[in-house]
Amino acid sequence: MGSIKTVAVLGANGNVGSSTIKALLEEGFQVTGLVRKSSTATVPEGAKRVEVDLSDASLLEAFKNQDAVVSTISSITPGGALSLQKSFIDAAIAANVQIFIPSEFGIDTADPSASRYVPFIEDKIEIADYLRRNQSKISWAAFITGSVFDWGLNIPGFGGWNIADRSVTVFDGGDIPYEATTLRQVGKAIAKGLKAPELIKNKYVYVNSFTVNQNQVLKAIESAVGEKFTVSKGAVEDLWQSGATQVKEGDPFGVLGMIAGAIYGKGNLANYSATKGLWNEKLGLPHEDLAEVLHKYLAQK
Ligand SMILES: NC(=O)c1ccc[n+]([C@@H]2O[C@H](COP(=O)([O-])OP(=O)(O)OC[C@H]3O[C@@H](n4cnc5c(N)ncnc54)[C@H](OP(=O)(O)O)[C@@H]3O)[C@@H](O)[C@H]2O)c1
Repeated sequence: MGSIKTVAVLGANGNVGSSTIKALLEEGFQVTGLVRKSSTATVPEGAKRVEVDLSDASLLEAFKNQDAVVSTISSITPGGALSLQKSFIDAAIAANVQIFIPSEFGIDTADPSASRYVPFIEDKIEIADYLRRNQSKISWAAFITGSVFDWGLNIPGFGGWNIADRSVTVFDGGDIPYEATTLRQVGKAIAKGLKAPELIKNKYVYVNSFTVNQNQVLKAIESAVGEKFTVSKGAVEDLWQSGATQVKEGDPFGVLGMIAGAIYGKGNLANYSATKGLWNEKLGLPHEDLAEVLHKYLAQK
């Protein structure tokens, strides 16, 4: 594979998409942010904004002259958008794109049992299989990032946290370790990875900002805000089950409880620093500190 200079990002205005574009620009890539024709979305300054209608012809046109395509397409969307990635991959192959990064950025989907814990992971695993089957035509790399830390804190109640109310539910005693990665670090990992495409080629790439548990995060948040939180106790199994029941009853947002349950250890797929090791050093990722990240995060609120 040659060096990567041009990168197209699908889902350019999304949580992961916009931080990825910023990181790619910082690393000197020429970046195109792709948005659907129906979308009013803007893309971060410095990237070119291109509208696509997601038809094969429109994708082929958009992918021409791109060395890499990064998909950050939404997983929590009615009807499911993740499976659309098969046509993105086909178009990328037709346009001679060198490497495709699928929309992953969560728990360890290299373990096929992952789909038992979060329903949309079935689509992520299928897409990874499709890429493996086509890896003679296009390279790929799947970035596993555990819990996207600031994304989670932005959603009141997610994973038990409610910062505005100064309250938290601590699950199973709060000592279960998990990987947490800031949106900035997710973007950095992709950008640093594309700087070293031979290193990441056809691999699962495991990164984080820090390995933490809920008690450590609570202590750090309390110290950052200078106030004690009201703490309730919960069980990971109940958190996950109530999400699964909501999903069964037709509420797609029940998946949030299932995701949080998986982060807090259901299936043991979010503590991969212990099982798979981290790529942070190999990629040259910046060190991130929990207290510093929280200070910055809370200062912006
Ligand atoms: N582990 C974690 O804690 C965590 C947290 C967040 C995200 N993630 C993962 O990161 C990935 C990206 O998530 P995100 O939160 O960044 O996504 P997002 O912000 O919800 O959405 C990204 C983009 O997807 C496009 N999109 C939405 N619905 C679509 C549809 N039906 N068809 C086609 N495109 C559609 C939109 O693009 P336009 O409207 O601009 O075209 C949107 O800007 C997902 O795989 C998700 O599972 C993981």
